[in-house]
Amino acid sequence: MRARFAICMVALLLMFQPGCKKEHPGQTDIDLKTSVERPQANGVSVIAYITEMKDYRQWPFFPNKGTLYPGKHPHGSLLVTYVSPETLIALQNNEARLPDGTIIVKENYNLQKKLQTTTVMYRIDGYNPENGDWFWLEYTPDQTVLKEGKAEGCINCHRAVKSNDWIFSGPVN
Ligand code: HEC
Repeated sequence: MRARFAICMVALLLMFQPGCKKEHPGQTDIDLKTSVERPQANGVSVIAYITEMKDYRQWPFFPNKGTLYPGKHPHGSLLVTYVSPETLIALQNNEARLPDGTIIVKENYNLQKKLQTTTVMYRIDGYNPENGDWFWLEYTPDQTVLKEGKAEGCINCHRAVKSNDWIFSGPVN
């Protein structure tokens, strides 16, 4: 019994030996944290994040927008726009620039209420400073990426509201 106790103690001590630590303490944890909490700047990664890791359909609507409200070309005839919870807080606080990691997801429906495409804006500080650091994404209901990244079409139109952090749907500041 005693011997067993002693063995257990030795095992415990060994577990907490500094020598057992990884070569770069913390490094792996940071990488892991980043990959879990932030999608990378590519369409597949963003889609996986907003559909599998989080479910954007559980997120709040863009302030003062309900479900299936009328939209304009080139987005759908009917729109549903979701913002990540942190984004909602930033919008409510009237921050002039939405924070790093902001995600806005707009579902674009036709008049028959059939989903046509999903369009996403994802802020990555330092990603594209000349154009507001937005990562743009458009994909189909079967998750085929149509446009992603520094998409010129998206940028050129949204530039009209550059002073509102490139956002059309409502005031940011
Ligand atoms: C010709 C102009 C135009 C183009 C091109 C365009 N958008 Fe938009 N976008 C708008 C307008 C206008 C709104 C506001 C919603 C509405 O009334 O249709 C909007 C809204 C959005 C929103 C909700 C946040 C906001 O700004 O209000 C997202 C997300 C978005 N667009 C993504 C995209 C992506 C991704 C692309 C490129 C694939 C794109 N947009 C191309 C005009 C445009």
